[in-house]
Amino acid sequence: MASQTQKVIEQYERYVMNTYVRSPLALTKGKGSRLWDVEGREYLDLFPGWGVGILGHNHPWVMSALRGQTRRLIHVSNNYYHPLQWQAAKRVVEASFDGKVFFCNSGAEAVESAVKLARRWGAGRYEIIVMERSFHGRTMAALSATGQSKYQQGFEPLLPGFIRVPFNDLEAVRRAITPKTCAVLVEPIQGEGGLRVGTDAFLQGLRQLCDEHRFLLIMDEVQSGMGRTGKWFAYQHTGITPDVMVLAKALGGGFPIAAMIARRSVADTLTPGSHASTFGGNPLGCAAIVAVFEAIEKQALLQKVNTLSRVIFERLRKLATRCPIIQEVRGRGFMIGIELTVAGRPLVSAALDERLLLNCTQDTVLRLLPAMTIAKLELNRALSILEGILLKKAQG
Ligand SMILES: Cc1ncc(COP(=O)(O)O)c(C=O)c1O
Repeated sequence: MASQTQKVIEQYERYVMNTYVRSPLALTKGKGSRLWDVEGREYLDLFPGWGVGILGHNHPWVMSALRGQTRRLIHVSNNYYHPLQWQAAKRVVEASFDGKVFFCNSGAEAVESAVKLARRWGAGRYEIIVMERSFHGRTMAALSATGQSKYQQGFEPLLPGFIRVPFNDLEAVRRAITPKTCAVLVEPIQGEGGLRVGTDAFLQGLRQLCDEHRFLLIMDEVQSGMGRTGKWFAYQHTGITPDVMVLAKALGGGFPIAAMIARRSVADTLTPGSHASTFGGNPLGCAAIVAVFEAIEKQALLQKVNTLSRVIFERLRKLATRCPIIQEVRGRGFMIGIELTVAGRPLVSAALDERLLLNCTQDTVLRLLPAMTIAKLELNRALSILEGILLKKAQG
């Protein structure tokens, strides 16, 4: 391993808690879909920031908004007002549904907020129906809501009240409803769960059950939101509207900020003093949110995702016909999963050797979350590298 990288890793081993599985890559600079490591080597990134880099690395509009705001004011406590918080909230509302926004700092915190909101709204009803293979984060409520036991081991007892059912199984949801049900929590497309797309029938059926039995539909769009699937939010492909939605990752274009939006009458359940977050809705994060919305809108990036994703899916599905280790290509927009018949991690390492960054989830699913700003040329080059790796593996 190159010496600068080794030095960084050694210092991590000494000073940083060892909670992540990391690739031996120490990064210093990024621009769009390209990254550079401490050795000065360049990489092509098909998985920028684990879904954060919706605009790639260091988008100039986001950087300029952050730079401008750092000169004025970087923190305002929430016992005062600042103009950027309502502007960011208005952007979220206008892109989704009529409601009000609560800002916080991470996906897990947004999920926690939604769980608290649902419980308070439920006024005694506290059960939340959640999906197998779902992922909602690592704090205690988000972890308890998550439908993958491997993340929960050793952290028991979990928070009570989460009823787990198979994803895309409406009958199972129906059977799980009790007089104590206050909400159903669902990712419209499961990301960590292996890029599994919620069917229209399932998501529309959930909406119907929520209306019939008077409980809340909470969408976790932490990974699928902000244009990733070719619409602002993935639920918008199905023609339904949730009561509550949580956002993080791409929301600040790389700056850590998260949000929960709730339909007006539901939002009003939270009253002054009932919920809070010290850094929530800080001016820097809100400036970044406004810049992200502007860039996606003014650079026509939703249209770009819709056009380019057709080309990507076509190319990958064609590859699947001559590459027997590809079992299925699935996803929506720029949220792409390639299910393999073999372990995916060695392929991620092989890609890294060719300076291409991608991800593997659920052991056998390669996950691509490219930036909406990726150039066609970069995308073609990345896909050619990936094709080469997959075909080589298939040939043994
Ligand atoms: C759908 C979903 N919800 C919640 C989270 C948790 O977000 P964070 O890591 O910002 O807490 C994630 C993270 O991957 C996610 O994919």
